[in-house]
Amino acid sequence: MRTIEWKTGIVKTIDQTKLPRQTVFLELKNCNEVAEAIKNMRMRGAPLLGAAAAYGLALTAYHSTARDKEKLMEELTISAETLKKTRPTAVNLFWAIDRVMNKAEKTNENTESIVKTIIEEAQKIADEDVEMNLRMGEHGSTLIDDGDTVLTHCNAGALATVDYGTALGVIRAARKNGKRIEVIATETRPLLQGARLTAYELFRDGFPITLITDSMAGYIMSKGLINKVVVGADRIVKDAVVNKIGTFTLAVLAHEHKIPFYVAAPTSTFDINRLAKDVIVEERSMEEVVKFAGIQVAPQGVTASNPAFDLTPMKYVTAIICEAGVFSPTELHKSSRFRD
Ligand code: MRU
Repeated sequence: MRTIEWKTGIVKTIDQTKLPRQTVFLELKNCNEVAEAIKNMRMRGAPLLGAAAAYGLALTAYHSTARDKEKLMEELTISAETLKKTRPTAVNLFWAIDRVMNKAEKTNENTESIVKTIIEEAQKIADEDVEMNLRMGEHGSTLIDDGDTVLTHCNAGALATVDYGTALGVIRAARKNGKRIEVIATETRPLLQGARLTAYELFRDGFPITLITDSMAGYIMSKGLINKVVVGADRIVKDAVVNKIGTFTLAVLAHEHKIPFYVAAPTSTFDINRLAKDVIVEERSMEEVVKFAGIQVAPQGVTASNPAFDLTPMKYVTAIICEAGVFSPTELHKSSRFRD
């Protein structure tokens, strides 16, 4: 099954906060339920957030009783605002909302046709995501050697996308192309997307996978146990890659140990007319840090900091893999013609 599906007026997805212990499917009936699921990390991962936001607008359109375009656009604008307030960092969310809103704006027909167009556009965004991941996987696979041990961070797999994954898509494609690969996954504190989701996906698919805590990466690299690092991204700006907190640390460590550091992301994650200084890094509740898996571990009353993402300067990035090919960070602008 895909991570997200349109079921005529309902959006079906998996509650990722419950994985791997329970597989709970959610049936979201309106845009507010989609926004809640995004905010509370039931759906997460940049490309999935894009598809989810597009489907959120599709739900508003599908259930609307508006009789004219003006009223329908008013309802869609309110939904777009709600969705845009959920999580600020992954650009895919904003990209998908703008794409659907522009499409609706440009459709000069009756409300029925506009609704149909919006649903089709959301479906297209989801379908294209899978196609982009498959293409990205093939391009990225050429960078992986038989026998490599690849380190990945957070979850940039099927669960973070509509299917297949970005960083994990590269790993999947490399294996499909006959390369024997071992994977090291970081647990990814505080919400453990690596331990809960990456380990779940790869273990289920039969990859040799070793889980480490985030702070073990430097030691493991110094022992020569990692050949490549492949991570995803939430936003790629001109001078930096924005990804899950801890990515920057891994990139500096990889640089120190002369290990190639690759970022796999579709062009829907590109925002190359902006700079690192323009990026809003989501600050999440300190509860996630003072607790571990919901249990208080720090003394009651202790304060904590919880930025969900960090920015890796391009000098630490060996190459960026997208559906259009493999680009060095300095020639990233050449990939922009592949983007809407
Ligand atoms: O906070 P999350 O779980 O939404 O963060 C996800 C990541 O940082 C992923 O690495 C990124 O979105 C790439 S997913 C293909």
